[in-house]
Amino acid sequence: MKILLFGKNGQVGWELQRSLAPLGELIALDANSRELCGDFTDLDGLIRTVRAIAPDVIVNAAAHTAVDKAESEPELVRTINALAPAALAQEAKRSNAWLIHYSTDYVFDGSGDRPWREADSTAPLSVYGATKLEGEQLIRQAACRHLIFRTSWVYGARGGNFAKIMLRLAQERDKLTVINDQIGAPTGADLLADVTAHAIRAAWQRPELSGLYHLVAAGETSWHGYASFVLDYVRRAGISLKVAPDAVQPVPTSAFPTPAKRPLNSRLNTAKLQSAFGLTLPMWQNGVARMLTEILDKQP
Ligand SMILES: NC(=O)c1ccc[n+]([C@@H]2O[C@H](COP(=O)([O-])OP(=O)(O)OC[C@H]3O[C@@H](n4cnc5c(N)ncnc54)[C@H](OP(=O)(O)O)[C@@H]3O)[C@@H](O)[C@H]2O)c1
Repeated sequence: MKILLFGKNGQVGWELQRSLAPLGELIALDANSRELCGDFTDLDGLIRTVRAIAPDVIVNAAAHTAVDKAESEPELVRTINALAPAALAQEAKRSNAWLIHYSTDYVFDGSGDRPWREADSTAPLSVYGATKLEGEQLIRQAACRHLIFRTSWVYGARGGNFAKIMLRLAQERDKLTVINDQIGAPTGADLLADVTAHAIRAAWQRPELSGLYHLVAAGETSWHGYASFVLDYVRRAGISLKVAPDAVQPVPTSAFPTPAKRPLNSRLNTAKLQSAFGLTLPMWQNGVARMLTEILDKQP
């Protein structure tokens, strides 16, 4: 199997470099790749790359993910999140390749408290959410074989993440305020990459699995619950923090105004994915604890 991966240095792209490698020949690119174009603002360049490689599977981990910045550059965001994936989908259709793509809970308006299903009505609140939704729609219209995974609250052990920010702030300050009315599931880039590899193998044998799936860790929490879990875990590991356990104050989203509106209900129902691929998704705490152990092992 020949796999062409775009966005190799993002949180998910980095983990995909590991998880896809055993499936076959892997060619991994990012926006700065020299010999082959991996820049999502250069649609002709992307098409040339796909034709030069002739992959069996295209995996797209590239995206414009700066949700607030996206509000002020909608055309660029649309090119990266919708038009470039559409160009890849058309090339996949032309060459009978699979396209694997990631989308987001931000396609929903966040109303209610029921976990969203794949067939629920979408109503994005932000430029990022709207362009990710358009990307999904254009891929479906191209009618290539595809797997689109909608996920949420992604973290990677590499680079910056919410847990690392909370840990740093808790060592510097004696009080923290964290949002408690957005509910979702922190999902590891490593879990997304591992499930992706598994799903590619399964879909390779069963093309009828082509479609849209919700993919997040099991369970749910708020950003406040996530922060409290992180600090509690770190304290138990013997790290001293300036902030006291009862000094992590819950606040509503309205306390932190941002250019892009975020959904309050980011819960995603993963029953379709678990049943189609015979998988059990682990609780979010498992992945976060593992990531924290890695961070703490590296601390001086
Ligand atoms: N992060 C989340 O919480 C979250 C939640 C739901 C869904 N998702 C989706 O999950 C997927 C993976 O996200 P992630 O968390 O891995 O995001 P990420 O860490 O921001 O990675 C995205 C990658 O895309 C690259 N990129 C940006 N502009 C590009 C361009 N013009 N050409 C080529 N590459 C470009 C980025 O490179 P630079 O860093 O150099 O710009 C980065 O390496 C995306 O589809 C995202 O929409 C993410």
